[in-house]
Amino acid sequence: MRERNSSFPGFFITFEGIDGAGKSTHLDFFQECLRARFPEKKIVMTREPGGTELGEKLRQLLLHQEMHAETEALLMFAARREHLAVVIEPALACGHIVICDRYTDSSFAYQVGGRGILAHKLNQLESWTIDREFNLTTVAIQPNLTILFDISPEEAEKRRALSRNPDKFEALNFDFFNRVRAEYLRRVKEDPMRFEVIDASQSIKNIQKVIGNIATKIESLI
Ligand code: TMP
Repeated sequence: MRERNSSFPGFFITFEGIDGAGKSTHLDFFQECLRARFPEKKIVMTREPGGTELGEKLRQLLLHQEMHAETEALLMFAARREHLAVVIEPALACGHIVICDRYTDSSFAYQVGGRGILAHKLNQLESWTIDREFNLTTVAIQPNLTILFDISPEEAEKRRALSRNPDKFEALNFDFFNRVRAEYLRRVKEDPMRFEVIDASQSIKNIQKVIGNIATKIESLI
């Protein structure tokens, strides 16, 4: 977990995981935990791709329209740029807690790990999108905490099979999700302080216990 940055006094939390890991099931529970612990704080729940009027339109395209892998990456970051400008930065500047369902880790996991785009291209897009200049110093708008729901691609595939209308990503094969997961885990190794990794194959009750503990842990930082 990272300390808050004085330029953005809010606290930024992201949820990540491969499709079928079940992260969405736990977002509301986590929000309730934080609400109980920090009743005086405003909590902003949002998601990517999406979170703004334009971002939700781009989401429709991204999830349902076939396109070149680099077009996909560019649109993910275009939606993110708008999201930062309209939702995330103003909320963090006001000291709110922002919980975002997916952020840049998804782009590295899906577009670099899954699709095979060169990492240096995404690094450029990432700096372009999330870096801000303050008095000659650059501040990257990165999460203070990222909760990764980790699950084997086999188990995730079983869970995805239960959803009736898979989108473009959910319909991808086992090998794709293997690469996506590997890239997530590589990023955890690269920046272990930022991540809390949850074994998403556990029961919902057990996962809620872990989530409750995470909410307690961040108390001193918020
Ligand atoms: P969701 O249904 O969990 O919100 O996920 C939307 C899909 O978009 C999911 O399959 C992951 C994918 N995605 C990317 O490929 N790159 C990104 O940068 C983001 C934010 C999502």
